[in-house]
Amino acid sequence: MGSRSASMHGMWSSRAVFIMATVGSAVGLGNIWKFPYITGEYGGGAFVVVYLICIALIGVPIMMAEILLGRRGRASPIATMKRLTREQHSSPLWTLVGYSGVLAGFLILSFYSVIAGWALAYVFDSAAGGLNGITADGAGQKFGDLVGSWQTLLLWHTVFTLMTIVVVARGVKNGLERAVTVLMPALFIMLLIMVGYAFIEGDFARGFGFLFNTDFSKVFQLCTGTPEALNCEFTGEPVVVAMGHAFFTLSLGMGAIMAYGAYVPDHASITGATLTIALADTVVALLAGLAIFPIVFASGLEPSSGPGLIFQTLPIAFGNMPGGQWFGTLFFVLLVFAAWSSSISIIEPAVAWLVDSRGWTRGVAAFAVGGLAWLIGIGSVLSFNLWSGEEYQLFGKTIFDLKDFLASNIMLPLGGLLIALFVGFGAGRQMALEELSISRQRLFDAWWFVIRFVSPVGIVIVFLNSIKAFG
Ligand code: TRP
Repeated sequence: MGSRSASMHGMWSSRAVFIMATVGSAVGLGNIWKFPYITGEYGGGAFVVVYLICIALIGVPIMMAEILLGRRGRASPIATMKRLTREQHSSPLWTLVGYSGVLAGFLILSFYSVIAGWALAYVFDSAAGGLNGITADGAGQKFGDLVGSWQTLLLWHTVFTLMTIVVVARGVKNGLERAVTVLMPALFIMLLIMVGYAFIEGDFARGFGFLFNTDFSKVFQLCTGTPEALNCEFTGEPVVVAMGHAFFTLSLGMGAIMAYGAYVPDHASITGATLTIALADTVVALLAGLAIFPIVFASGLEPSSGPGLIFQTLPIAFGNMPGGQWFGTLFFVLLVFAAWSSSISIIEPAVAWLVDSRGWTRGVAAFAVGGLAWLIGIGSVLSFNLWSGEEYQLFGKTIFDLKDFLASNIMLPLGGLLIALFVGFGAGRQMALEELSISRQRLFDAWWFVIRFVSPVGIVIVFLNSIKAFG
């Protein structure tokens, strides 16, 4: 293995630390904020099933591929792809996946930090007693006031971007790693308590049914309007969004996991780590859904309320449970940490690239990348207030929606497709065999079949289906 077995950016001290950091990257706003709100928008159970299928057949195999590429290359995603295309005598064009990942990172952080900013605002509001005794209307009003003020959003967007920059500048490994080991389990326990609250005080049966009763006719339709005057259209959009979310929630398709994979010790098992990470991520998302939908139905809110969903429901729970003031504060603190440990992985590919291929120092690179994402993020800030009107929309989507749609639902799956094809066809079977070192031949063969055929074909079908539906 020689000099190739260590990354110039440092190494995780153990496999367990790698798993913690990657769970930190995977578990974030995607699970607690985005999963419930898109599940609400796209109709519930059927959407959840499609999402789970995408996690299993596309997400898990591609995560293994990303980690193995990262560990083999031991550099930033762009440098890794360059190195491996040379090593495997394949076309340098595969390196595109590295560049598109850097671009996707900018887009994603530019809205991620705005939403994380909402969570920051709620930390302080909750601590000051602002949620005490709040009603459903009051919670809606409060959220509306928050996003209506671009000044406030800009402030918190700036704070969160700086938090991200600081950790990335110090090196992902030294920064948040230790905090995450304590805080992620704490978040998990909090979610369990919230599910308990939803069970007692919410309309649990309806919330549960909404998440798990599967009406597949809805998967290919997008319905708007009230239940009495429902207007449904045939479209592939829910399936595209479910697949895009599988990538988003596992941090796949843009090199984040490849960058983290570069710091993995040589003999750690990739398969076991991947399954642990995917399971933890999925359980957190489902718990968030179980905590939120019973409250949605008990308070007469619409599941399809959009990006504000958790901010309009959880405060009702905190405002009316015993000890809710500090409990709510703690919850939002943990949510901010979950977002923080994710956001650092969003810009790590770009920063690592500037460091190993352009010779920048980590500090300068982190500031440059974070600063640019901050600038692009102003568009997301304004999407909720000054630029929320139709004249600022394209295809009925605000700038915030467009960035999310383009990055999550198009760029990440395309990146994942390239990664699967490179590992399955561009590079040799030998490379995967060596890196995965799965002792059971059958298991390797199954993964090999999935990464070469099942995942790529799945991604292509979902895209074709949506083009057909749009056309
Ligand atoms: N997975 C994170 C979440 O669910 C977000 C995230 C971190 C991400 N790194 C990423 C999304 C890379 C896409 C790509 O909140």
